[in-house]
Amino acid sequence: MEYPYQIKTFEEYQKNYKESVENPEKFWGDVADNFFWRKKWDKVLEWNFKEPKIEWFKGAKLNITENCIDRHLETMGEKPAIIWEPNNPEERTRVVTYSRLHKRVCQFAQVLLNNGVKKGDRVCIYMGMVPELAYAVLGCARIGAIHSVIFGGFSAQSIADRLYDANAEFIVTCDGAYRGGKAIPLKSIIDDALIGNRTVKKVIVYTRTRTPVSMLKGRDIWWEDEMEYAEAQIEKDNVITMPATEMDAEDPLFILYTSGSTGKPKGVVHTCGGYMVWTGYTFVNVFQYKPGEVHFCTADIGWITGHSYILYGPLSAGATSVMFEGIPTYPDAGRFWDIVDKYKVNILYTAPTAIRSLMSYGMDPLKGKDLSSLKVLGTVGEPINEEAWHWYDENIGKHNCPVVDTWWQTETGGILISNLAGVTPSKPSWATLPMPGVQPVLVDERGKEITEPDEHGLLKGNLCIKAPWPGILRTTYGDHERCRTNYFASYENLYFTGDGALKDKDGNYRITGRVDDVLNVSGHRIGTAEVENAINMHTNVVESAVVGFPHNIKGQGIYAFVITEKNTHEDERAKNDILETVARIIGPIAKPDKIQFVNGLPKTRSGKIMRRILRKIAEGETENLGDTTTLLDPGIVDEIKQNKV
Ligand code: WT7
Repeated sequence: MEYPYQIKTFEEYQKNYKESVENPEKFWGDVADNFFWRKKWDKVLEWNFKEPKIEWFKGAKLNITENCIDRHLETMGEKPAIIWEPNNPEERTRVVTYSRLHKRVCQFAQVLLNNGVKKGDRVCIYMGMVPELAYAVLGCARIGAIHSVIFGGFSAQSIADRLYDANAEFIVTCDGAYRGGKAIPLKSIIDDALIGNRTVKKVIVYTRTRTPVSMLKGRDIWWEDEMEYAEAQIEKDNVITMPATEMDAEDPLFILYTSGSTGKPKGVVHTCGGYMVWTGYTFVNVFQYKPGEVHFCTADIGWITGHSYILYGPLSAGATSVMFEGIPTYPDAGRFWDIVDKYKVNILYTAPTAIRSLMSYGMDPLKGKDLSSLKVLGTVGEPINEEAWHWYDENIGKHNCPVVDTWWQTETGGILISNLAGVTPSKPSWATLPMPGVQPVLVDERGKEITEPDEHGLLKGNLCIKAPWPGILRTTYGDHERCRTNYFASYENLYFTGDGALKDKDGNYRITGRVDDVLNVSGHRIGTAEVENAINMHTNVVESAVVGFPHNIKGQGIYAFVITEKNTHEDERAKNDILETVARIIGPIAKPDKIQFVNGLPKTRSGKIMRRILRKIAEGETENLGDTTTLLDPGIVDEIKQNKV
């Protein structure tokens, strides 16, 4: 496969960037010509950020699975699409060729049809990282069902909320999922999530761990039986295939829930045409993928990174994508390096938190591992500190692999700011330059563009984007007004990212982190309000306030200030009960690292919690708390300071 839109030099980048901004319709029309459309568009782009209304490739017809699978069959049918590495290294690897992927996706699409799933229906997928997860996702896409993948670390309550919000009638899950030394009982968690649920009609269960499961007659069915039946149904002359449903470019492809500054996660909606073009384009350009190379993105498909850079981006480019079931430290901290060695991985894409965690094990886990196949290293999910950047560059890349620091979000569909591997310069801990089509701008609190450099010659402000790129979210499921107020209402005619950034004189961007009440814990996005709501569910809790604090491995840790009803302050048990409550309500990933019991919270006279002060205390900066005179009870601050944990 060839990628005529692959940028090869810095000059070409500059030229492409300029063209993409001056004439976006021409630019993206040309890029989109390299994909397979049943019918081309009537108009490349129509938009306004007011409503917002964003339409790319309007009138075009396609099915993304024909781009990710069918069009590769003739020339690459026997090439590996997915190489699956099991949690347990002793277990057999599974190599899924493009033709095998086609067969399985068609079969599963037929399973969905057999069970009454129709175009536009929402299918919730709660599975471990097994190839069947890819078949489930792509099977939905093949018949136009909207998939909503939920990360395996979320609790029954979180799943229930998402099922309700998406009004989902179908679930695909596993009996259990292996992660390191543990097996997570996914089906049993689903059973809990379904207590009181009235919409879900069918639960399809794939067997992975042989964990005993309860199967409810009429509702719960086995993946294996369904697949066998579907196979016989669609087989003709030894070929297993079924036609893909024709989709409009702007039909929804999937929903993915993500946390914001308010209590309830939002269902970010991406559509078929623009998302396909954006993930394909950014994959080929940022990582400079060459045909035949092996790409290993270590993310979970429960997050956007897995959607875009394990599945859709690589597969539309006909790449080989490694899918890893386990965790970086099982059976030991050399696991990533074993995988790189075993499959001769060329591109490794991981998160700063993983790099920092592996750094802490020293050089031993690297001994005897051949990493010479590596050509490109990538990071994503949170700001990367210089120490981790250099460790990655030196010990993994041996100074021979460009490091791409890719900044983006669930809402952006794919990478927005990053260097292009070996093509545009890297700068440690800077995401550097915008992708073609992306027009960032830094603004102050009132939305005025920042033009005056600070004492270091840098511009500093809130990061916004001026115009749509093909992968931008279209709405938040079931609540378009929420999409508008969250992203398009802070500043007129701008998409607001929620991040702060710096810009240097060469036009490079450095993302400094969230400026809203969203935490980034080990690359996972968690809303402070969400954690507070969960803590407040505990019987003895009166009120709580949650802030982030710098954490060596996780990037940010969660610090909770909690007022309890009775005098349970000294009680370790009260802390553990709160942790258990949070794990139940959200999931283990949201458990606070520190809990401090307090008698009061610093509030203004109007009753607003002054988080700025709590953040400083949590960061250990107790000296310089700024103005506290507007507080209702300034004395409380000293008390909190003294009892800091
Ligand atoms: C938030 C989005 C992008 C997929 C994974 C996370 C932070 C992401 C970087 C980076 C600094 C980064 C931002 C962003 N972030 N990448 N390279 N440098 N910060 O997706 O869960 O939607 O989180 O992650 O704060 O807003 P997400």
